[in-house]
Amino acid sequence: MGDLTEAAGLPLTIQDSGRLSIPPAVGAARPAVRTLEDMRPYLADPNADGRGPAELYYMYRDLGPAADRAAYAPFGLRFDITVLVPGDVAGELVKTAGHYHPAPEGPGEVSFPEVYGVIRGRAHYLLQDGRVDGPAQAFLVEAGEGEVVVVPPDFGHVTINPGPGPLVMANWVEATFASVYGPYAERRGACHYEFAGPGGRGRLEPNPRYPRLVPLRRLTAAEFAALCPQGRALWRASRLPDPSSGDAPPPPPQPPRPLYRLGVEDPERLAFLVRPASYDWSGLIGRR
Ligand SMILES: [Fe+2]
Repeated sequence: MGDLTEAAGLPLTIQDSGRLSIPPAVGAARPAVRTLEDMRPYLADPNADGRGPAELYYMYRDLGPAADRAAYAPFGLRFDITVLVPGDVAGELVKTAGHYHPAPEGPGEVSFPEVYGVIRGRAHYLLQDGRVDGPAQAFLVEAGEGEVVVVPPDFGHVTINPGPGPLVMANWVEATFASVYGPYAERRGACHYEFAGPGGRGRLEPNPRYPRLVPLRRLTAAEFAALCPQGRALWRASRLPDPSSGDAPPPPPQPPRPLYRLGVEDPERLAFLVRPASYDWSGLIGRR
């Protein structure tokens, strides 16, 4: 058991199994579960034996007490928490299936972005662009507790748990769309796989089912945040040290603001999740 209240901004505890204990006023206690059987289409080895974990991750969707919803629901936002157990499946680190998002209706739109925040553990976010003939650029963004990552429009995303313990992560997203899993199932995962390596260091290998080798840029969450205006703004709003501060003195130490609290206290700041084409993404999605 572990108390996540301070880091999550909601009164949650994590059980040894990786499942969360959630007060009824906060949301449904029963998660959607992704089992090894569900995940076979996305694995490097779809015939992996059952020696790894049988349940790989738990998704708790649409959390938040009614009083908080009054603040963010008018903005069309939804808050979720996902827990990835530690371990590997036939050597491949536990990960999510991976998906793309659709775009809002309307001319000139780009697909819905997403914001992740790490509550406990470490995350590797494998982001790849959504070109119809296969991605041409991809990032492996490494994030630690308190850090936030903006998934830009038109980028598919997989989350990997590279750590020895559970990875608990939050996300804000537009409330109504359905994710698109087909491209990841067709190519059996993202453009790279991450396997357990010696000394706890992951080993990345390209997925041979992609039509070309996609270079993978490995960045810290701070480096990735610096690439686009929305990333920089969210980083500052989370009270994280400014990634572009150069030689400026470090800010006074203070705990980062939980991603949940940021959305409740300042939902307007997340409006880019709902109307992405109205915002500047040129640091990322213009580079194709
Ligand atoms: Fe997503």
